[in-house]
Amino acid sequence: MKKKFQDIIAEIEKEEIKNNAEFLSFKKKYSTLIKELNNEFINLPVETKRELGCMMNLLKNKMKSLCDDFEKTIKEQASKKDDDIDYTLPVDISLGCKHPLTQLGDEMSEFFLSYGFDFVDAPEIEDDWHNFTALNMPYDHPARDMQDTFFLDNKKQYVLRTHTTNAQARTLENKKPPIYSVCIGKVFRNETVSARSSEVFHQIDGFVVDKNVSFADFKTIMNDFLRHIFGSKTKMRIRPSYFPFTSPSVEIDIECLICKGKGCSICKKSGWLEILGGGLIHDKVLENCNIDSSIYSGYAFGGGLERISMLIHGINDIRLFYENDMRFLRQFR
Ligand code: DAH
Repeated sequence: MKKKFQDIIAEIEKEEIKNNAEFLSFKKKYSTLIKELNNEFINLPVETKRELGCMMNLLKNKMKSLCDDFEKTIKEQASKKDDDIDYTLPVDISLGCKHPLTQLGDEMSEFFLSYGFDFVDAPEIEDDWHNFTALNMPYDHPARDMQDTFFLDNKKQYVLRTHTTNAQARTLENKKPPIYSVCIGKVFRNETVSARSSEVFHQIDGFVVDKNVSFADFKTIMNDFLRHIFGSKTKMRIRPSYFPFTSPSVEIDIECLICKGKGCSICKKSGWLEILGGGLIHDKVLENCNIDSSIYSGYAFGGGLERISMLIHGINDIRLFYENDMRFLRQFR
């Protein structure tokens, strides 16, 4: 029995505890051993007990002091760790930010909501009627060729919408005037991807149908809108154009942001940048959507978000918007 005590004491002295896990297993192992020894010890004759009592105490004390030492070291290490932290060092908290296209969409929404417009949605998978026919582009209309369409079936009944103007067809069909609505969303064109064009991009489409809506109303709101987006001194000009769903149709330019109208490579020396298309809603569209064109009239406009954002921020490649490169995105914080 004496030998047993001596062996365990020697063993404990050799133990090296490096971490908390080792400490726990150490404690478990030797507490059990000491307990077993203690049980044996209790049943020994008094004489032997007297002889071995001091060994038993020595063992218990060794065990206790080892545990105490280790716990002390752990505490010291923890407090030292705290001292090592310099709380005054600057921290790089990299806050995220909204994508530049979302930021632009938000600014546009803010403007139109303040003018009493509501927001409408329309499907990205669209039928021929709402993407083309209702918008005064019947099956054989040459204007269909202006938009490189992704058809979804052999009969060409379903398409990926080529413009957010499908929201116009759907809303005019379902709501009664007065209608003041805007749609912002993704559109799809079967185009070769390049620095200037993408197969998927974003558009805004706005439309109003009410009594006595005139071209002057359209011009006024476009002027306010472009000043909200590009700055209060922005100059705008209107040129005649062609869209099947508006008549008269126009294209709206702003004075070149880069050269302030003098002419540069961005505006192709014209001093102007094309921003939106629009005009008065064609009577045929109103009638296709069951709105009486002898009582109601309306205006509509539409354009791409990427182009506007590229002009505002001087971005020269549309593909940067979709690559999720943090170096690009971080610039819009
Ligand atoms: N849908 C046209 C396009 O994709 C843009 C547009 C032009 C929308 C005139 C309109 C509009 O609502 O009236 O190029």
